[in-house]
Amino acid sequence: MYFAANSAQAVFEEDGLLVVGPNAEGRQVVQAIGSYQSLSKDWPSLAVEHLPGRIIAPGFVDMHIHYPQLDVIGSPAEGLLPWLENYTFPHESRFSDAGYGAESATFFIDELLRNGVTTALAFATSHPASVDALLGEAQKRSLRMIAGKVLQDQNSPDGVRDLTEQSLVDTETLINKWHGVDRLGYAITPRFVPSCSEAQLRGAGELAGRYADVWVQSHVAENLDEVAWVKQLYPNARSYLDVYGQFGLLRPRAVYAHCIHIDDEDRALMHDTGTAAAVSPTSNLFLGSGFFDYVAAERTGFLYGLASDVGGGTSFSPFSTMLAAYYVGREGQTKPGVSLKPAQLWWQHTAGAARALGLEGLVGNLLPGCEADFVVLNPKATPLLARKTTQSASLDELLFALIVLGDDRLIEKTVISDA
Ligand code: GUN
Ligand code: ZN
Repeated sequence: MYFAANSAQAVFEEDGLLVVGPNAEGRQVVQAIGSYQSLSKDWPSLAVEHLPGRIIAPGFVDMHIHYPQLDVIGSPAEGLLPWLENYTFPHESRFSDAGYGAESATFFIDELLRNGVTTALAFATSHPASVDALLGEAQKRSLRMIAGKVLQDQNSPDGVRDLTEQSLVDTETLINKWHGVDRLGYAITPRFVPSCSEAQLRGAGELAGRYADVWVQSHVAENLDEVAWVKQLYPNARSYLDVYGQFGLLRPRAVYAHCIHIDDEDRALMHDTGTAAAVSPTSNLFLGSGFFDYVAAERTGFLYGLASDVGGGTSFSPFSTMLAAYYVGREGQTKPGVSLKPAQLWWQHTAGAARALGLEGLVGNLLPGCEADFVVLNPKATPLLARKTTQSASLDELLFALIVLGDDRLIEKTVISDA
């Protein structure tokens, strides 16, 4: 299963062939995809691995995840701010220990792969060594991973609070060390407006201007108490999102998690600046943050895709995230909601997420030229999946069954493009 060029249209071959081989740089990429019957004659000496009853699909792309929050999953709180204070910040302070970071990074990547996620845009912590731990491990496994050191020089406790000048120096050092190395990328990572001084946001924006192909990642308008806090800090800003705009932090390859409590002017600003939203429905439901407005997003046409937001999010599994997104589409802010099609949900977590990250044509799909990151799904992985998927009368029915009933057991194998 893959997506037609420039569309969320899923293509499924009952008896398909995926041809993989090295590109000019020696990296394994897709050479061809289509029906076995039509393609096999063009590749007569191909070594073919038969996968009867299985589905090959693009590896999933997670647009927003915190690798240091593995152990924070499932920590209940009244809302975002007490959750940060009581669970997240204390836990992230442990990443001053490089050994702890390395162990967590290994576990984190194992968990991504078990769940079929082959590309992620990830927060590390404010400790520069936490970036080295994650990107070092991703490099060993040949993963496409984008990550950044969190910037948080205020309203943050000892143990995670950084120093303004040093944080910016560290960010630039990490950009030069990691960005564009093998399949790795760097993201300038101001945590969110309340945790960053004006000087730190200004410095982040200046780096974002100087390093145009580096990513920017942050959070915006997730929770009403957070929005009110930003209003106190910046009474003259038109909106929370506008604060990032004032510091030059809205641009292509800038990705903001949540984007819940925003208005159409914000949506237009996202559209006009090429800024993307990372929609994180399991996190928003768990922390009681609110609902991403799919109807408004479609109307205004800015870039967005799906994300787990572990550990506010409750699962690494893209199937959990897609199902939660479906619920949110139905019950979200604008009534009546939308009944998102399964192929749309799947696209938002693969090719659509890749497009929002500026990685279209590289990951998230299996069109010729894409890096060969893919999953092998077993639609009979559980008795109920087997019962349900054998009755699917259309591709929509099959994909919906996988989204609703699927979890890590559905991912029989995750294959990463070698070099
Ligand atoms: N806002 C600032 N930091 C965080 C975080 O770690 N998780 C979530 N969900 N929101 C945040
Ligand atoms: Zn987050």
